[in-house]
Amino acid sequence: MRPLEAIKFFVKYICAPRRTGAVCPSSRFLSRKMAQGVGIGATEAHSENKVVVELGAGTGAVTQALVDSGYADILRSIEFDSSLFDILSDRFPNVKVMRANAEHLREVLGLESERVCAVVSSLPLVSLPKDCVENIVSEIEAVLPKGGHYVQYTYKIIGKNKNVRFKSLRKVSSNIVLLNIPPARVDVYEKI
Ligand SMILES: C[S@@+](CC[C@H](N)C(=O)[O-])C[C@H]1O[C@@H](n2cnc3c(N)ncnc32)[C@H](O)[C@@H]1O
Repeated sequence: MRPLEAIKFFVKYICAPRRTGAVCPSSRFLSRKMAQGVGIGATEAHSENKVVVELGAGTGAVTQALVDSGYADILRSIEFDSSLFDILSDRFPNVKVMRANAEHLREVLGLESERVCAVVSSLPLVSLPKDCVENIVSEIEAVLPKGGHYVQYTYKIIGKNKNVRFKSLRKVSSNIVLLNIPPARVDVYEKI
């Protein structure tokens, strides 16, 4: 964990706890598990001209794992907060980082929304307002093609988030990552 970024992240949490949703950035173990959920290898995704979308990139813990997995130039990392967006832009000059609201995903991606193969989300769906979560979920379902993966972590290790209802996604795997503060569960869904 990068100390300065961890401090900035914690300050964000103090200022906007529901939107930030975590006290510190994800560990490399959680971040790697998120990147593994993409479901299509970087070489194949490149050759098929696909795009991988990251939602709620924060200071870039999961972004780094996605870059390490070879997705840098097909990655679109979306972050709402302007100072976190600045950190991301400095840290990942080779990634297209966008300052935007995930509730408007199709509009933000424009024509690229037709090329999405996976959505990797760190958004705090448990603490965001219900209508916001509904909008985000319906945007994710709209951009994913059949068989495309949606990857989401949650600190609610047991049970479901009652705010979240899927119309066209089914869960294909669920893994608990203990080496994170706090421990988290990574769920992978597939568009049907
Ligand atoms: C739990 S943090 C995850 C940060 C990072 N991905 C990680 O795992 O360390 C959630 C991030 O989502 C961002 N966020 C919250 N609501 C958002 C929205 N509607 N659109 C885009 N980003 C949002 C917050 O600003 C915050 O940076």
